[in-house]
Amino acid sequence: MFYELIKPAFFLLDPEQAHDLAIGWMEKTGRCRVTRDIAKSIYYLEDPLLAQTLWGLRFSNPVGMAAGFDKNARAMPGLTALGFGFIEIGTVTPRAQPGNPKPRIFRLPADRAVINRMGFPNEGAEVVAARMAALGKQTVPIGINLGKNKDTALEDAAADYVAALEKLFPYGDYCVINVSSPNTPGLRLLQGADYLGALMAEVQAANRRLATQHHRTPLPCLLKIAPDLAQEDLEAIAHLALGPDIDGLIATNTTLSRNGLSQPSDEAGGLSGAPLRVRSTDIIRILYRITGKDVPIIGVGGIANGQDAYDKLRAGASLVQLYTSFIYEGPAVARKVKAELLELLRREGVRNVGEVIGSSG
Ligand SMILES: Cc1cc2nc3c(=O)[nH]c(=O)nc-3n(C[C@H](O)[C@H](O)[C@H](O)COP(=O)(O)O)c2cc1C
Repeated sequence: MFYELIKPAFFLLDPEQAHDLAIGWMEKTGRCRVTRDIAKSIYYLEDPLLAQTLWGLRFSNPVGMAAGFDKNARAMPGLTALGFGFIEIGTVTPRAQPGNPKPRIFRLPADRAVINRMGFPNEGAEVVAARMAALGKQTVPIGINLGKNKDTALEDAAADYVAALEKLFPYGDYCVINVSSPNTPGLRLLQGADYLGALMAEVQAANRRLATQHHRTPLPCLLKIAPDLAQEDLEAIAHLALGPDIDGLIATNTTLSRNGLSQPSDEAGGLSGAPLRVRSTDIIRILYRITGKDVPIIGVGGIANGQDAYDKLRAGASLVQLYTSFIYEGPAVARKVKAELLELLRREGVRNVGEVIGSSG
């Protein structure tokens, strides 16, 4: 209701300015206990039906904030107060970088979609790690989404992922190797099975070394993939994920396709939101048919309501994330998705959300 009132003014702003304003608000909300509690009293909705344990981590609900919203880990407590069950920060690269020239985010309101060509602007792993250290342990699982710097050669990519992991390891509950942004030249080539096997092995070796150093277990290491992969590449990735070096998959990042848009757009970049929804669900289904529950999948792409989340869970996702619908629906979106999902689960008569995973085959 509140968001519907302010949205027209918000949408007059450049999308990135609106985003920065929202991050600033959320940072402030998260800093103060009173505002956090007020936000919680409005937006919180928890139910044991929604709770699961994956990779030994407890998720009080399966609806997370996707990577790219909180690139520099400023809004974690605020996002938690809005009811997200987990938060993925980043993409963070080892060194700070400015990203592509602005403007680089474009709203497509008629299609409930966004095109972005951000190119991983971020403050770099060291600054983000210091901020996470200062904020302390969060009450929901935190994913650290890692990328390579634009000016790092593709053959040196593994060293970048490892360097970012080294800085951020103490502050994450899981890590994500992002090889699927369309806005870093060549990055998606890392999704080829030859590169990928070697890359993940190197990251996991560092992960085990860091675990020993920090006296804890290695982080679950997930791979985030693009929706534009051919069937045989998807199948190769799913088979690779059955091996020891991939602990989970995130499907999917933004798409280069412009299918499903009611009006053409000339803007370059990755498309997210409603037009991506069906394609990302199909990809989850293809992956799940090969991996089953052995490799948990986080489903993301075009989720805006409980039915969208339910469809992805039934296709094989164990958890879901959203970003673009947060822009269109506002701060109540996680609560809305959870409330509608709960209703669907109750109608189905299940005792826990885990029972519907993969049920639509
Ligand atoms: C403006 C914007 C920036 C994004 N930045 C990142 C990023 O830095 N790293 C990443 O892995 N995904 C990034 N994404 C992709 C989202 O995490 C998500 O995979 C994608 O948008 C599909 O979900 P949605 O339809 O709910 O937005 C970004 C998406 C948007 C819209």
